[in-house]
Amino acid sequence: MLEEILQKIDNEQDLNKEDLVFLLGLKRREDLEALYHRADLYRKKYAGEEVHLRGLIEFSNYCRKNCCYCGIRRDNVKARRYRMPNEEILSTVTLAEKLGYRTVVLQSGEDMYFTADRLVDLIKRIKQQSDVAITLSIGERPREEYERFFKAGADRTLIRFETSNRVLYQKLHPDSDYDERMTQLKWQKEIGFQVGSGIMIGLPGQTMEDLAGDILKFKELELDMVGVGPYICHQDTPLKGNDNGTVEMTFKVIALTRIVTRYAHIPATTALATLRQADGRERALQLGANVVMPNVTPVEYRSAYELYPAKVCIYEDAEKCHGCIHGRIFSIDRPVSKGYGHSVWPG
Ligand code: 5AD
Ligand code: SF4
Ligand code: FES
Repeated sequence: MLEEILQKIDNEQDLNKEDLVFLLGLKRREDLEALYHRADLYRKKYAGEEVHLRGLIEFSNYCRKNCCYCGIRRDNVKARRYRMPNEEILSTVTLAEKLGYRTVVLQSGEDMYFTADRLVDLIKRIKQQSDVAITLSIGERPREEYERFFKAGADRTLIRFETSNRVLYQKLHPDSDYDERMTQLKWQKEIGFQVGSGIMIGLPGQTMEDLAGDILKFKELELDMVGVGPYICHQDTPLKGNDNGTVEMTFKVIALTRIVTRYAHIPATTALATLRQADGRERALQLGANVVMPNVTPVEYRSAYELYPAKVCIYEDAEKCHGCIHGRIFSIDRPVSKGYGHSVWPG
């Protein structure tokens, strides 16, 4: 079975769900290396050698939602809430630009203080002052609002669907709807955004069939970016006491995402770095990933943006993370991109 599937990969034939479930079940080191090696070849062929950097600005941790896994969910009264003032967001973008990042990711909880008017103003001012692509990672909004953000100059969106198992999705998201999430992703693309999404690995109750379905979903949605990271249990959530996702399963999903989607940008995520500080990101970059999202959020806010515990980089500042990331990429002999790192999907 393994030989047949590897042959399919070598011939660039499509993998089906059964193939994916089988590969997700691999355990032997040499089998895994055979898979990872092929994912690395696909990465090289379809996404190139360069690693793209996106400066991450966590500008607010207020959230109207109550996702069961998330440390900044509405009902977590222990979370210290903050919003960065506009001027500070703008100066943080300037710093990101100075560090050489050609994309900034504006990320927050679903914070309605940031009305469409306020966000449009912010996007316009960023585009006036800085030569950067803008990714919005702000959750669900009405289509008309995203249309305004696009017109104002935003380039990309980022909103994970978390799992393609709709029953599990509903269980984990008391105030979201699976179909609505998928619909938002579809019209974000229609509007003209480069659209990113992704999932968590190891959610309580998630199966390998679910993960195989997730990977096929990435392809069906023709996502420009796919972020996958391990679920990390937060004690101040309804899911307290559950196991974390594993690093190995995360590697397998990254590798298969590369093989199945070919062109998607794939970040080596912070959650992965958190579970494998020594070399999680470097390994990911060597088995399919081609993007890193260094944090540029001012240090005073970092510990409060606690989606999950023990997140890396909460005591480091933007310069420190910049040096750290460059060192890691240098250590695996890959070049850092100087471009915007737009989508590489053909056509
Ligand atoms: N562990 C790992 N990732 C998490 N996220 C939220 N909570 C956790 C957690 N406990 C991820 C979700 C969300 C993104 C902003 O952070 O996938 O989409
Ligand atoms: Fe809010 Fe996002 Fe956390 Fe859900 S995952 S509670 S939408 S910040
Ligand atoms: Fe922040 Fe390594 S990326 S310290």
